[in-house]
Amino acid sequence: MKILVFEKEEHLDAYVGETICDFIRQHDQATIGFATGSTPLGVYQYFIDSYQNKKVSFQNVQAFNLDEYVGLKPEHPRSFALAMKNELFSHIDILPENIHALNGSKEDMDEECQRYETLIEQNPIDIQILGIGMDGHIAYNEPGSPLDGACHVVDLHQESIESSLDYGFDHIEEVPTQGVTQGIGTIMKAKQLIMMAKGQKKADLVKRMIYGEVTSDFPSSIIQRHPNVIVCLDRSAASQLKEEDYEKR
Ligand code: PGA
Repeated sequence: MKILVFEKEEHLDAYVGETICDFIRQHDQATIGFATGSTPLGVYQYFIDSYQNKKVSFQNVQAFNLDEYVGLKPEHPRSFALAMKNELFSHIDILPENIHALNGSKEDMDEECQRYETLIEQNPIDIQILGIGMDGHIAYNEPGSPLDGACHVVDLHQESIESSLDYGFDHIEEVPTQGVTQGIGTIMKAKQLIMMAKGQKKADLVKRMIYGEVTSDFPSSIIQRHPNVIVCLDRSAASQLKEEDYEKR
């Protein structure tokens, strides 16, 4: 596992952004997994700037979102699908038919999960962007999720519901209590993972993710088993790691 710790947040965002832009430029087709949440927003801005400056085109990109709330239509103002559209997809030249997401408003969610799992099997993800949740989740794989799981519906834990207040919900009662997510097994099939974390509040979580036991009680610990993972941290998020374990940027 390669761990990079950046002095400046903009350098972290630019590193992740440029790594992915480079991949896109060098391949006829690129399949990228996108995460919602506050952590990757600077990377998305980097993509938008690069596109506007004609340094990259997203016309050859297939995009797969990680997760969604159950009960919200894709066009709902708080859905992850709309967040990704507003924060990135509507500002770049990605083709609408190449944007893929779990639809949390389907009557038959098992069928929806199967549809998405099959679609990802047919379009293996080249690079998956990930963040870590306050309970150690990746995507919406909450503690207890099977380490080899496929796409599934999940009851959100309290920490995840509370964190959702950062995503524009006014009251905790408005936050859906269930999510639908790529499983840990789905995520582990991506050819490369880029895990990002920023801020002091993530420091203990990052320590456990990197040094702790690999366990479904702490889903992000699974990245230790992935053969191709880059962990990109700011100094605060890395503050509990041993200096010899990371590269300073
Ligand atoms: P955040 O969310 O980027 O808003 O901290 C991370 C996550 O829940 O995966």
